[in-house]
Amino acid sequence: MNIITATNLSSISMDMSLPTTLYAENGHSIFWLGNTDETTFRCNTYLIVDQHEAILVDPGSKQYFSQVRQRVAQIMPPEKVSGMVLCHQDPDVAASMTDWLDINSSIQVFTTPRTQVLLPHYGRSGYRYYDVTENPVYALPSGARLKFVEAPFLHFPGAFVTYNSQARYLFSGDIWAALDMDWALTVNSFEEHIEKLNLFHLDYMASNLAARGFVRRIENLAIDAILPQHGSILGPQHVTAALDYLRNLRCGTDIIYADME
Ligand SMILES: [Fe+2]
Ligand SMILES: [Fe+2]
Repeated sequence: MNIITATNLSSISMDMSLPTTLYAENGHSIFWLGNTDETTFRCNTYLIVDQHEAILVDPGSKQYFSQVRQRVAQIMPPEKVSGMVLCHQDPDVAASMTDWLDINSSIQVFTTPRTQVLLPHYGRSGYRYYDVTENPVYALPSGARLKFVEAPFLHFPGAFVTYNSQARYLFSGDIWAALDMDWALTVNSFEEHIEKLNLFHLDYMASNLAARGFVRRIENLAIDAILPQHGSILGPQHVTAALDYLRNLRCGTDIIYADME
């Protein structure tokens, strides 16, 4: 199998009718599963495969369930999906959880307690719940680890990100999400990308304090790529600029209540 790591990301070619491999080394793989819809609010779903574990990151809305399931089926039997990371409860992240649980009721749901209290409103409870706040590290069969880091108020109080220790990829949910109509898998120019990040962050993210506080929690991780739920993936050459973007971001209440400072 070809080795694919963050250094190859910018040269990956895509066939939109197939899953796209974003990482492959030592029996550990990460795929981009779509979706293919040309909308400004395009949602990214990822799959981490590590021996008998197959974990969907932000499986997505009901609208795209059949497409995501088809992409999984091009890799492995969908009923072998063993986990879902739900970085918060928004429908574009989590609504398809009930469809996945219909396929395999033993799928483990990785999320925070604040998200967990809301998820049953999609119509299903009693599933296997993994509390990422109480158990912030999850070991995969290969020895790779998923590290969960809470990101309060970016944008949900119980939002969190997932760091993959082997790939050194950060699945960032709505953080570093971008809105655009000329999407590409990876960011080329960070300078040009800022406008697309702003379209999302200025309205959705709570405040500069929340953004800076989150950066303090993750700045010591060795991050080779940032994989958001919307917009393009940020490769290794953009990670430093991406952290600086959040440190300097003025958003949410900084803007709405600017006259109160
Ligand atoms: Fe969201
Ligand atoms: Fe989102």
